[in-house]
Amino acid sequence: MAVLGRGYRLRWEGIHGWPHWVRVRENGERLAVVTGADLDVLQAFALVHDIARRNDAHDPGHGARAAALLDTLPDGLLRLDGFQLEQLTFACAHHTEGLLEADVTIQTCWDADRLDLGRVGIEPDPALLCTEAARRPEVLEWAWQRSIGDESSAGQTRNGAGHA
Ligand SMILES: [Fe+2]
Repeated sequence: MAVLGRGYRLRWEGIHGWPHWVRVRENGERLAVVTGADLDVLQAFALVHDIARRNDAHDPGHGARAAALLDTLPDGLLRLDGFQLEQLTFACAHHTEGLLEADVTIQTCWDADRLDLGRVGIEPDPALLCTEAARRPEVLEWAWQRSIGDESSAGQTRNGAGHA
């Protein structure tokens, strides 16, 4: 996966960088125990969904760019079959649009990302999460505490729209 990391233009420890990718992966793994989401797709989503960002603020095209990037990766790098790659591509392309309806693996990807909004001062709204698993109070609290514990979020305000 080092080939992916080398392509990331922004600060490695920043709000859309490596610490966020790790928390999205951990969020997704916790949700997947309940939702049954495909862990291979989730783990790839955590690494890829923000990798094509050009700034840490408003960048509405970054999901589509991440999806397009998937087509350029060497065959077999992500170790996903065709269906999994389709799911990953869709999840990346549309992860900032606030959608709620999709295949459960895609929903779990989106929720895993949205549960980390605390790092930019946004408390995730249960009504904007896709799965019951993510809406559980104990999961919201667990994710919130982790999301605000990262020093890279210091100084952020509640005006963090578009940061998923
Ligand atoms: Fe994200």
